[in-house]
Amino acid sequence: MEIRVEAGDITQSDAGAIVVNLFEGVTRPVGATGAVDRALDGAISTLIAQGACKGRKDEHTLVHTLNRLPSPRVIVAGLGSAERFDIDRVRSTSAAVARYVRRSGARSAATIVHGAGIGGLDAEAAAEALTVGSILGSYRFLKHKRRDEDAPELETLTVVEADAARLPAIERGVERGRIMARAAAMCRDMANEPGNHLTPTMLAERATDLAVDASIEVEVHDRTWMEEKGMGALLGVASGSQEPPRFIVMRYAGGGAREGTLGLVGKGITFDSGGISIKPAAKMPDMKADMSGGAAVITALWAIARLGLPINVVGIVPATENLPSGSALKPGDVIRAMNGKTIEVINTDAEGRLILADGLGYAQELGASPIVDIATLTGAATSALGPYAAGILGNDDALCSALIEAAEASGERLWPMPMYDDYDDLIKSDVADVKNSGGPAAGMSTAARFLFKFIDRTPWAHIDIASVDMASRDQDFLTKGATGYGVLTLVNYARARAASAAAAPAAAAES
Ligand code: BES
Ligand code: MN
Ligand code: ZN
Repeated sequence: MEIRVEAGDITQSDAGAIVVNLFEGVTRPVGATGAVDRALDGAISTLIAQGACKGRKDEHTLVHTLNRLPSPRVIVAGLGSAERFDIDRVRSTSAAVARYVRRSGARSAATIVHGAGIGGLDAEAAAEALTVGSILGSYRFLKHKRRDEDAPELETLTVVEADAARLPAIERGVERGRIMARAAAMCRDMANEPGNHLTPTMLAERATDLAVDASIEVEVHDRTWMEEKGMGALLGVASGSQEPPRFIVMRYAGGGAREGTLGLVGKGITFDSGGISIKPAAKMPDMKADMSGGAAVITALWAIARLGLPINVVGIVPATENLPSGSALKPGDVIRAMNGKTIEVINTDAEGRLILADGLGYAQELGASPIVDIATLTGAATSALGPYAAGILGNDDALCSALIEAAEASGERLWPMPMYDDYDDLIKSDVADVKNSGGPAAGMSTAARFLFKFIDRTPWAHIDIASVDMASRDQDFLTKGATGYGVLTLVNYARARAASAAAAPAAAAES
């Protein structure tokens, strides 16, 4: 979908649909909704008086204009109560409206920025949320389906603003929203891609293409390099597959040479069968999305670079399949990670933490600090949180809080889980330094505690997105299938870091 910004009067738009809005309880529409109402001889006021249009959240009222306006349709989007109106509501309203407009058959629409008028929100932030909501809410993955001519796409959305003074802010918000939403949509594209269409090699190619597009550095390392680095944990997981593993490193240097580098590490399992500890068949197809964390890191780096944020970031994605074969890891095997620690492989299905052990090891070798990893790590995340939040754990409260705040600004949720040292008891091995499964109890915490064994003093946070990487239905700006969860949070966290570095450059250089 293309999003344009125009100054002018929305009643004069000839788009396939005009989108205006209404707060709950309003009887006499004002602003753009009022102008459209007048042009329709009071049709909206009449529908309100008749109780057909109440302004409730997620309510859509379709009004055919029957030649009274250049556009054939007006859609009145309910915004819910004005007291509970916020940026999240703008994002989710825009997402639902985009889907509604598409169902109405319109290929183009004109909209006002919800909330920038009487809603009282910052115009730039509202325009960003509108853009993100519209693009991500109407996202679909149709690449492998025959084109259905009867199911039109919403191709263009024109944001119309009557007040010329507000136009620059709206343009800035739309531009930023475009980049962030495109990043999340590309993350969804990768995660939705079946395993046979996105091998580790192909994931690395996509990362390379995005790095070129954003003019940033990228290195793709092969098995020999991993052997030289002593990445026995990653190589162990890769040993079951015919597909060669890849170790992807993207670097964006937007900050000064003296400033630190934020490290983002993502799990890149392009298909997780469980290996010899094989998974049941029913949910196995979803495991094509087990590289969602890796894709989030790749696309977040692209967005951070395209936004030109004044910080340094390195993105690291160990990528491999997890398959059973005669050469696969076996339960009971002992392997050695890059940092020298040995791991007893209790369960070959706990492979994410194995490849992350080496991903985190390399991030520290590069001197990245802080380090944030993101991974579809445990089914326990779903047991604990359902599809409503991802889990966050780590060794640095300030870092975790900053990430939680960035998630809140994104319409995503991170919920803190404990990482008590007691959990070490559950992952003690009789034969190695640690074992890779702590059994059914506290799965998110023992997984994080395992990762913590591979962190040496660097401030670090771990985000477990296994609960949210796939959605079973369209909900707000998340659509059925891969959600791209975490991309917006990572980019907003980078934006917050950039803003605080700009506010206190000396402090940033020290830390
Ligand atoms: N990729 C899975 C976790 C997962 C499950 C993600 C469901 C998305 C949806 C991960 O590799 C895994 O298999 N974890 C195991 C760990 C266990 C064996 C300790 C799990 O959670 O069952
Ligand atoms: Mn697994
Ligand atoms: Zn996995």
